[in-house]
Amino acid sequence: MHQQNTQAFTLTGGRVIDPASGRDELADVAVAEGKVAWIRPSGGGPLGEKVPVDGLVVCPGLIDIHVHLRQPGFEHKETVATGTQAAVAGGFTTICCMPNTNPPLDRPQRITRLQQTIKKQAWCNVYILGAATVGNQRRELADFGALLETGCPSITDDAMPLQSTKQMQEALQKLAGTGRPFMAHLEDEELSGDGVINAGAVSQQLQVPGQDSLSEVAALRRWAQAANSVKQARLHLLHVSTAQTVAEAKTLRTDNIFSRLTLETAPHYFCLTEEAVLESGADAKVNPPLRTEHDRKAILQAVIDGDIQIIATDHAPHTPQEKAQGLIDAPPGLVGLETCLGLILTHLFHTGHLSLSDILAKMTYNPARLLGLPAGTLKSGAPADITIIDPYKQWVVDPDRFYSKGRNTPFSAQNLTGQAWGTIRGGQFLMQEGKLRKDAKL
Ligand code: DOR
Repeated sequence: MHQQNTQAFTLTGGRVIDPASGRDELADVAVAEGKVAWIRPSGGGPLGEKVPVDGLVVCPGLIDIHVHLRQPGFEHKETVATGTQAAVAGGFTTICCMPNTNPPLDRPQRITRLQQTIKKQAWCNVYILGAATVGNQRRELADFGALLETGCPSITDDAMPLQSTKQMQEALQKLAGTGRPFMAHLEDEELSGDGVINAGAVSQQLQVPGQDSLSEVAALRRWAQAANSVKQARLHLLHVSTAQTVAEAKTLRTDNIFSRLTLETAPHYFCLTEEAVLESGADAKVNPPLRTEHDRKAILQAVIDGDIQIIATDHAPHTPQEKAQGLIDAPPGLVGLETCLGLILTHLFHTGHLSLSDILAKMTYNPARLLGLPAGTLKSGAPADITIIDPYKQWVVDPDRFYSKGRNTPFSAQNLTGQAWGTIRGGQFLMQEGKLRKDAKL
């Protein structure tokens, strides 16, 4: 278990926002023994040392349920140590890592081994999502029960989509009654084929194979059918990218055809379009691909309306050498942990689309509730996992300054407004005034 700071301190004068309890007020937050001791109106006597955070937002530690840490097997791209440093720098105190590693995280022994590394090397809380199929081969389903028992909050086929409605039915059956959703990567491979970016104007201009957006929608239709046939099935749609996906998911939910459906997207789907490929090349290659302006607007609107309940990064680091192979051969994926909050505040808050509380719900309470994580709220007695945000900080994205090993971002050199100022885990400052505390005890 990571070290806790037993020294008491009080964050004073901040705007405390906790979407779980509806709190949004000026208040002081006292921390002792690694837990939130109390939250009181600003100005009373502090407990322990006073840490002034006037003008800043104090909220539950941010949660990212979609991160590729790459360990084991791809440590040249990222490790538990570097990925979690990037997470803390981005304001996250809890992340879930994806199982498409080598070997894949498909059985209890492998989960336990990685958990041991996490205990020693992780800067933030890390939960491991179990792989849906044995060896990620997509033939035989993994032992979901054993994976959940080992501590996986859920199961996913991210990057390795299940192949038949029957297989999905069985997967949902195995999870039914556990309260956990199957986390589905939506891709019908017959339709996505060898497409490397969105099928459309840009793929035509560059003369590279395109991936039709129907691929995502077709997968949703199949999986919804499977989910409908399984009592108590719950389905979470990872990184949705198309207008049609959100429209059809909304119909499924509002018409009560299949209501236990949740949706997640990543900032790049509401900040960028396929045009980014023209500028950033393979650094804008991601799966699902960046889509059209029509899709971007629809994703943005769905985030605003609450039809998308969770924002995650899909942090997917690759090396510069791998990305230099060009659009066709470079692996898909973008890093996101260190740009996520800035992008969200710039594109959702400073544009007036969403309140801070509505934004933070999608990054704290909603993901915690989806996966039953013991996080996502600020209340007395809760672990002192806290993020302190400067919503007005202006900064420029410089990949050379990332803590992540990955440099693959299409947001390089962009001006953003809003950034994490501090990250506290278990009562210990891991990042303060925008800098990692290298003296932190893990
Ligand atoms: O762009 C992506 N990269 N999408 C995925 O589904 C997988 C991920 C990766 O592992 O690199």
